[in-house]
Amino acid sequence: MNETEKQYPFLGACRRQLTNYTPIWLMRQAGRYMREYRALRKKYSFLGMCKNPELAAQVTLQPIEKFGLDAAIIFSDILIPLEPMGVEFEFARGEGPVFHHPLQGMKDVEKLRVIEPEEELSFLMRAIQIVRKELEGKIPLIGFSGAPFTLASYIIEGGHSKNYILTKSLMYQDRSTWDALMEKISEMLIRYLNAQIQSGVQALQLFDSWVGCLSPRDYEEYILPYSQKVIKGIDKKVPLIHFATSSSTLLELMNQAGGDVIGIDWRMNIREAWERLDYGVAIQGNLDPVILLASVDLIEKEVKRILNSVGGRPGHIFNLGHGILPNTPPDHVAALVEMVHQYSSR
Ligand code: CP3
Repeated sequence: MNETEKQYPFLGACRRQLTNYTPIWLMRQAGRYMREYRALRKKYSFLGMCKNPELAAQVTLQPIEKFGLDAAIIFSDILIPLEPMGVEFEFARGEGPVFHHPLQGMKDVEKLRVIEPEEELSFLMRAIQIVRKELEGKIPLIGFSGAPFTLASYIIEGGHSKNYILTKSLMYQDRSTWDALMEKISEMLIRYLNAQIQSGVQALQLFDSWVGCLSPRDYEEYILPYSQKVIKGIDKKVPLIHFATSSSTLLELMNQAGGDVIGIDWRMNIREAWERLDYGVAIQGNLDPVILLASVDLIEKEVKRILNSVGGRPGHIFNLGHGILPNTPPDHVAALVEMVHQYSSR
């Protein structure tokens, strides 16, 4: 353990070190549930905020100033590196991302460009530097990206999808195009994530949010080699959280692909999940984000249940099972963070 990891409970927990309490951060902790975010959002578009380093830094810090969170996550989106690759999309009002030309075949893969993250995504690198300066000696900063499958699904479906029929059809029916696409995305991610480390992030999270739509057999065949390649290609000096939802049947395979921490949703028992991983990695999760809409009493009950379930074993990072919902009451977030710290204090 180096000096910074000793200093920060979040980094200590990523390395399965004993910490004074269980650290907590929340996926999408900067966002629409906060009045401060909505106020800025009235003036700027979402992508406009991502691409302005000062604004992105300001939004990253909004939840940090309000709640006693143990890590910050840089304000950006998993789709940000797709633009320099030549994939065009926009965020249509209230509908999420819409891609103008969903990928159809090898010709489209060939057109994808190799990105130069330091130059083409300099706004993100600059935002990371600003936030690091602000947070020095306080809490660490997490960088992130989508995982190869989840990014491929957006490029192929042209947006969010229910059943991933186009993505899976390409995967099953056109293996060489699938492999070429996954290869290009993986190469991009290695450059992109290492550039974030260079700029100052102290941990990374790989979001494979939608990979739970696949069978274990297909994950092993079509996904694992690429997620593994990305994780192997990243500088080992920062810990990596490998996250997915609906992944209870994929846990061991995700672990095989790599990561210092496995992130799970709320659909499985966290102790059972950790046991299946032989306690050989740290674990993150697993509060249902909808619980935060319920009473503080119910939140307390769930916090205690999750903390009891892992029994104080070093290497648990408290988080939601997926992103925080826009209608979450901010005072429930404050209560959650306090409870996790208080009940896990040792
Ligand atoms: O965690 C954080 O606070 C960092 C910021 C962050 C955002 N998106 C900001 C955001 C992170 C880590 C993401 C990751 C992301 N983006 C994922 C993986 C995580 C997950 O939820 O599974 C995915 C799938 C995306 C793609 C994406 N971005 C979608 C589908 C949408 C629209 C749906 C929605 O929630 O509105 C976004 C928009 C988005 N990303 C917003 C924010 C704050 C809302 C933008 C707005 O203000 O209108």
